[in-house]
Amino acid sequence: MYKENNKKTFLTIVLFAICSLSIAQKGKIDAIYSGIPWFDNNGKTVSAHGANIVKENGKYYLFGEFKTDTSNTFNGFSCYSSKDLYNWTFERIALPVQKSGVLGSDRVGERPKVMKCPKTGEFIMYIHADDLKYKDQYVGYATSKTINGEYIFRGPVLFEGKPIRKWDMGTFQDSDGSGYIITHSGNLYKLSSDYKSVKEQVVKDMTTHCEAPVIFKKDNTYFWLGSSLTSWERNDNYYFSAPSLKGPWKEHGIFAPKDSLTWNSQSTFVLPIVGSKETTYLFMGDRWAFPRQNSAATYVWQPLMVSSSSISLPDYKPSWKIDITKGTWSPSKMNYTEIENSDIKAIQYSGNWSQDNLSKISQSNSKGDSFSFNFKGTQVGFYSTSKMDGGFAAIEIKNKKGKTVLSSTIDMYCKYTENALRFLSPVLPKGNYIITVSVLGEHGNWYKKDGTGFGSTGDFVTLDKIIIKN
Ligand code: GAL
Repeated sequence: MYKENNKKTFLTIVLFAICSLSIAQKGKIDAIYSGIPWFDNNGKTVSAHGANIVKENGKYYLFGEFKTDTSNTFNGFSCYSSKDLYNWTFERIALPVQKSGVLGSDRVGERPKVMKCPKTGEFIMYIHADDLKYKDQYVGYATSKTINGEYIFRGPVLFEGKPIRKWDMGTFQDSDGSGYIITHSGNLYKLSSDYKSVKEQVVKDMTTHCEAPVIFKKDNTYFWLGSSLTSWERNDNYYFSAPSLKGPWKEHGIFAPKDSLTWNSQSTFVLPIVGSKETTYLFMGDRWAFPRQNSAATYVWQPLMVSSSSISLPDYKPSWKIDITKGTWSPSKMNYTEIENSDIKAIQYSGNWSQDNLSKISQSNSKGDSFSFNFKGTQVGFYSTSKMDGGFAAIEIKNKKGKTVLSSTIDMYCKYTENALRFLSPVLPKGNYIITVSVLGEHGNWYKKDGTGFGSTGDFVTLDKIIIKN
């Protein structure tokens, strides 16, 4: 669980502060893109990790951890809203850092989950609070009359008069309106009718680990997903199924191809999108990027294949569309002009870039090295290879007056080598721009309590191809 901040440089703070668009987005995002930073209506990175989604009055509300780029201390829980699941409006910090207590500024706050209590009509947010070493685990709750808050923190969710001392936590609302809390190690608690305390423990210590727990239901089958315990590192998540919440729970093993590390993500929620024709099950996963969790941690949202007794994520869909009225999904084709990394007339490299003979990817690990590209259009992005020795890259887009319109950071670390879309800008007013991507000379590392180290071994930034749209 425990990880330590590695490099807190002045640059980190400056980059975090400017990690935003100075102009609002001009057009709409047209699909769900996994593994790239998303930008909200203000041009700021969407920061909502360990999230869940609640639909209310035709809108989707996303709640999650509002991260910083500098440390793991609690920075509030965010709320965003969207009508299409592609474009997100920042509503507010739904539950801010408290002056003191279990959600104070010297604590950890994780995995907020909101449910609407059918009996009272109140919105209840469940949270995991802890000390910085994850030794003071605690499941608490906050309430609000409106979905977007501000939520008032009320204290622990009591079970037999005592707080639930667990870390990773999720929630599940059954079709009969009953609410449940799930925790790591296979514990399931049924809430009382006002959703503010536990009525009974339904499942106890079903398994070891099973962090980032998720339960959802299709027809008469319940599915329970979770991850192994590797801190911010991704692993092959696995699942159980049962005909009733009480069990018997059958273990099925992993649901994404072995060693894909759940397509390099960790589960946090499954949202059934019920439409007039079908139901699509939205798998929501986190691709963490400690310590730059605000700017560089991304989302892996995929359509989960669900049969009556099994689930799977058979392939990775970098971009796909969902019709929320019909409940159907479809792959999305990216129609962009491509510029290969070898096009040195179009791309200006500065510093010690080399081309890998086999993969034909340009790469550098020297701090300050960069590549730049001038373009006319509305959108720019690029593909590159994430790998074991990948590091952080800084991205800057300037308009023709030299004004910075976007600054961002991305992470090129992955435990396996993965070539994919790494960045896609918001839709900008049509014009002339220059994008510059620089090697930050930093990478993520973190440690579990037992001293096991995780993370990258180098600072490499790579480029496969740039893409633009007119
Ligand atoms: C993960 C957990 C995250 C966070 C992290 C800290 O295993 O799922 O929510 O607690 O550890 O190391």
